[in-house]
Amino acid sequence: MGNITLTMIKPVAVKNGYTGKILEKITSAGFRIQALRMLRMSKADAEKFYEVHKERPFYGELTDFMSSGPVVAAILEKENAVEDYRKLIGATNPANAEEGTIRKMYATDIQANAVHGSDSDENAEIEASFFFSKKERYKQDGNLI
Ligand code: CMP
Repeated sequence: MGNITLTMIKPVAVKNGYTGKILEKITSAGFRIQALRMLRMSKADAEKFYEVHKERPFYGELTDFMSSGPVVAAILEKENAVEDYRKLIGATNPANAEEGTIRKMYATDIQANAVHGSDSDENAEIEASFFFSKKERYKQDGNLI
């Protein structure tokens, strides 16, 4: 059981002004922010990040969308982070997400589904390193990881 997960607040949610509300929901649920950054991915960045989905029919659209505007990326720390965060965000398709979950509250559709969350401890580490160096990750005491 790992203690970090990587999230991105996706372009439409950022554009709609939900960044603050989503971060508030995340920290209220007991996640600590280790690293945080707003950036716009290039198409090539998005293709690399979502490389595991390369063969899926939605890969082109997904990577167009994810590079269409800035995202807010963050490394979140909590015991059992991957599983607990996936519960907090709800089902991939917001139509199936439970009441009170981030996707139910802030998602538009399955692609613009408000936030990304890592699906395993291994991917959380890979995705965290995609956005942040060790010099951008802080412990609770304010020192670098
Ligand atoms: P995310 O958690 O970022 O991981 C992969 C993304 O692919 C997922 O959220 C969705 O936004 C997107 N996705 C998954 N399934 C579909 C689908 N059937 N159609 C369009 N996009 C999808």
